[in-house]
Amino acid sequence: RFLTPRVRQKKTLLRAAKADLPVHGALVYKEARVAVMREGDVVYALNLVCTHLGCTVNVTPTELVCPCHGSSFDRQGRVLKGPADRPLLRYRVEERGDYFEVVV
Ligand code: FES
Repeated sequence: RFLTPRVRQKKTLLRAAKADLPVHGALVYKEARVAVMREGDVVYALNLVCTHLGCTVNVTPTELVCPCHGSSFDRQGRVLKGPADRPLLRYRVEERGDYFEVVV
């Protein structure tokens, strides 16, 4: 009996045009509840679902703030202020030509 290894399929969540993403900024995709963040050469994406009870956090230039119960997160997604006690979920971003692709 052979066991077939399971190959995890990579899924592209969304594509962001490089030209639209400021060097120290963010592109917010409200419907997908994802923000593509850029700090110089470092690009990553955050899931905007608050880890407290699931509201969508708002992205400001300095932090991410949850409108429901006031949790806040730094631009890396780490908790600055509760009640949330877990960081925002982070997604990997791959460069492809003129785009950044958020993959899960
Ligand atoms: Fe975000 Fe409660 S759902 S602080």
